[in-house]
Amino acid sequence: MRSARLMTATAGAAVLALGLAACGGSDDSSDESTSGEEMSGGGEVEVFTWWAAGSEKAGLDALVGVFEEQHPDYTFVNGAVAGGAGSAAKDLLQSRLQASDPPDTFQAHAGAELQDYIDAAQIEDVSALYDEFGLTDAFPADLVDRLSTEDGAIYSIPSNIHRANVVWANPTVLEDAGLDPAAEYADLDAWYEALDAVEESGQTALSIATTWTQVHLLETVLLSELGPEAYTGLWDGSTDWEGPEVTAALEDFEKLMGYTNDDRDGLDWPDATQQVIDGQAGFNVMGDWAEAAFQEAGAMSPDDYVYFPVPGTDGEFDFLADSFTMPVGAPNPDGTKAWLETVGSVEGQEAFNKAKGSIPARTDADTSDFSEYQQSAVEAFANDTIVSSLAHGAATPIATLNAISDATSKFTTGASDLATFQSELAAANM
Ligand code: BGC
Repeated sequence: MRSARLMTATAGAAVLALGLAACGGSDDSSDESTSGEEMSGGGEVEVFTWWAAGSEKAGLDALVGVFEEQHPDYTFVNGAVAGGAGSAAKDLLQSRLQASDPPDTFQAHAGAELQDYIDAAQIEDVSALYDEFGLTDAFPADLVDRLSTEDGAIYSIPSNIHRANVVWANPTVLEDAGLDPAAEYADLDAWYEALDAVEESGQTALSIATTWTQVHLLETVLLSELGPEAYTGLWDGSTDWEGPEVTAALEDFEKLMGYTNDDRDGLDWPDATQQVIDGQAGFNVMGDWAEAAFQEAGAMSPDDYVYFPVPGTDGEFDFLADSFTMPVGAPNPDGTKAWLETVGSVEGQEAFNKAKGSIPARTDADTSDFSEYQQSAVEAFANDTIVSSLAHGAATPIATLNAISDATSKFTTGASDLATFQSELAAANM
């Protein structure tokens, strides 16, 4: 069965630490509200995310259900701003933070993105809550590193772990194109033959959406072409963005974009994934929040959908995690604490992740009733080489991601050529 491919373990898998190198820069500004006082108060708790609709909202709703059971005195207020990967939410959040109008808590990616908020002194150290809620050993150490500074301060509580390097496919579309839905593709070259076949059958070969999904594709192609070590080197300066390996990867990216739907720039990820669900497209590269969309559509078995690591990335887990923060000046800090307690709890992690397509950040959560895909992701996370996602805040600060996104959009809309694209990517990472 196709899904078994994700379970392939890489013996002695190495974890490539992101080097969320501790800035040590921001003062310890924790106040009484985060230092272990009793939660009381009640009132409204505004939770800012970009899980505004569809399967993402269903995930949030599941978490809210647990919150309401655990903290009936508090009222959840949905501050969600639509736009996949926070494409609209993050700018709006920054305006609010700069205007001293923070929500009670907001979603932030583990890694470099969280570091941005730490450096700007926009979030509090919540390590006291790790002690109070008994979370200290609940999460993998490498994940906690991505939430922490060198001096041991921890700045958020993770809700989930997602995998970015997954291809989702419609087996009927593949069969109609003369392909074996259970076929394996060792690398991108092998995959091109299948993409050609789907294209010749008259369907979109590879569905995609607006810029951030194109950056998402780009990162998986870089990983495929460079391998985990050189890919990680893109973010720590040890891999040359101007080098021939990157040029080759960008050529692959250009080729893959040639298989995609023309209306892409007006779509978001659910639309692109839906094209596969509806049988209008053969393949889609998307993070495993797509799993929740397939589940929501009733796709349960390999007859309904198949999935596999982006060709050339088997044994690699392109990692990202969402987490929740205590903003400086949160209007209802006791309410924030209550939300963070739910996020970190076993019940919260199980309910949320089952619905979200992700895997729990907690290592002691019970995933036995999770989907087959999710079980495979649990295995893969435990055994594969972990690398950091570009499009989802793990690898680079927001400003770098924004510059990469601008360069990508210019390239895919025909406003720049490959050489210009490559030098703009290099400049973005200076
Ligand atoms: C988030 C996921 C979300 C996805 C699409 C990612 O950046 O981490 O939780 O489902 O974007 O919106």
